[in-house]
Amino acid sequence: MVLTTILKCSICIFIFSVQFKSYSTALCRTTNDHKNHTCEGFRFREIVLSRSTRLQLLRTRIFNCKETDVKEGALVFPNLENLTVSCGSIQNLDEKAFLNFNNLQELDLSYNQLSKISNQVFRPLGNLRTLNLTGNSFEDLPQTIFDGLNGLKELFLSHNKINNFHVKVFDAIRAVEKVSLDNNLINFLPGRLLTKLRKLQYLDLSNNYIENVGEVFVLAYNLQYLNLSHNVIEDLPLRLFQTTRLEILDLSNNKLSIIYEDALPFKTLKKLYLQNNQISLFDVGGMNMEYMPLRLLNIENNRLVFLENDFIKTASSLTELYIFKNPWDCTCFQEIEKIHDELIVQPEDTDGPVCVYGLSNDCNINKSNLTAYYRAFVKQLEL
Ligand SMILES: *[C@@H]1O[C@H](CO)[C@@H](O)[C@H](O)[C@H]1NC(C)=O
Ligand SMILES: *[C@@H]1O[C@H](CO)[C@@H](O)[C@H](O)[C@H]1NC(C)=O
Ligand SMILES: *[C@@H]1O[C@H](CO)[C@@H](O)[C@H](O)[C@H]1NC(C)=O
Ligand SMILES: *[C@@H]1O[C@H](CO)[C@@H](O)[C@H](O)[C@H]1NC(C)=O
Ligand SMILES: *[C@@H]1O[C@H](CO)[C@@H](O)[C@H](O)[C@H]1NC(C)=O
Ligand SMILES: *[C@@H]1O[C@H](CO)[C@@H](O)[C@H](O)[C@H]1NC(C)=O
Repeated sequence: MVLTTILKCSICIFIFSVQFKSYSTALCRTTNDHKNHTCEGFRFREIVLSRSTRLQLLRTRIFNCKETDVKEGALVFPNLENLTVSCGSIQNLDEKAFLNFNNLQELDLSYNQLSKISNQVFRPLGNLRTLNLTGNSFEDLPQTIFDGLNGLKELFLSHNKINNFHVKVFDAIRAVEKVSLDNNLINFLPGRLLTKLRKLQYLDLSNNYIENVGEVFVLAYNLQYLNLSHNVIEDLPLRLFQTTRLEILDLSNNKLSIIYEDALPFKTLKKLYLQNNQISLFDVGGMNMEYMPLRLLNIENNRLVFLENDFIKTASSLTELYIFKNPWDCTCFQEIEKIHDELIVQPEDTDGPVCVYGLSNDCNINKSNLTAYYRAFVKQLEL
């Protein structure tokens, strides 16, 4: 009896102190120059500022505001350039929520509960350069959601539940250079999704369920960075990236089994990540290339037995080569070492064999029997 009272009481003190703590973090601060303002733990109507301060503010950040809606006139900051409203709780944006934010350059609405928003919401924000919608609950991107964002350069939609796009959803943001769509539920990319994004340089699609990349990158002339890691891609169509300027391509953690030279843009690629796939054939010689700019190649943890001799020689710009955890033929492995020894990066855990048989004297592998190496490799791993 006494014991339970003590227990209850200590719990209630604990709860009390937690509540006390969270109240004590309710805090608003404005810098001396009246340009920056941060508020945490207050409702919108509790944010008290003089009219002259409101006029001077360039940046406001509002956290943990306990609001579910941003209504017309709820936020009045006439000259604001950067606005953050990250409350964990916002579900609705009134059509006129941002009506008087004509100078806004950056809008951060990350970590709220937005799933559907009115089509007109962003229309007044023609000067916006960055829109951050990370960590919301969007499932579907309807056609006109980004209408009016003519100057947008960066769009962050990471950590949502997106599984569907209107094929024209990005047509409104033709100036965009950087788009993050990682950590969503995307399993399909409509073929024309990116056709108007001629300035797109950076696209992150990692951690989705993409099986098939179709023809979606065909007109992405300026694409330099593409992250498709942690998807379920099995095949790459030939010449898929031919018109891009890809320098960094991450296809790690997929289900690729064969890499053909024509499927990847070796004329521009500088960093290629292919680790953690099931690649048994890296059919890349680079024979017709004068120069291969590839600097980093990661093919760790695949099913490779050899690399084309021509590739080993043509890839003369390599500075980092990750090749462990493959069932290399020992003779072929030595061929790579002979040319690239100082570039080979050792993994931290070097358990397991470096190579399996070395039957031939000249690394001349019969391609119809590559699985035998993999079987032997797995057997050695088990020992
Ligand atoms: C206001 O914020 C900007 C951007 O983060 C920063 O560069 C500037 O130093 C801040 N001004 C003051 C007075 O804290
Ligand atoms: C507003 O955000 C932009 C980036 O979008 C940044 O360059 C600028 O310094 C920020 N301005 C202020 C006042 O914080
Ligand atoms: C977008 O929001 C996320 C989460 O708050 C943050 O980590 C990220 O830095 C933001 N991106 C930009 C460009 O402000
Ligand atoms: C691609 O995305 C994954 C997962 O988000 C990340 O770990 C990796 O560093 C990214 N790759 C590159 C080359 O930036
Ligand atoms: C390669 O191996 C297959 C079966 O494993 C065999 O039928 C074929 O003759 C071999 N080819 C050469 C050139 O040795
Ligand atoms: C494949 O290679 C292994 C090891 O060299 C050999 O034992 C096996 O007979 C070969 N299989 C065929 C079908 O040639």
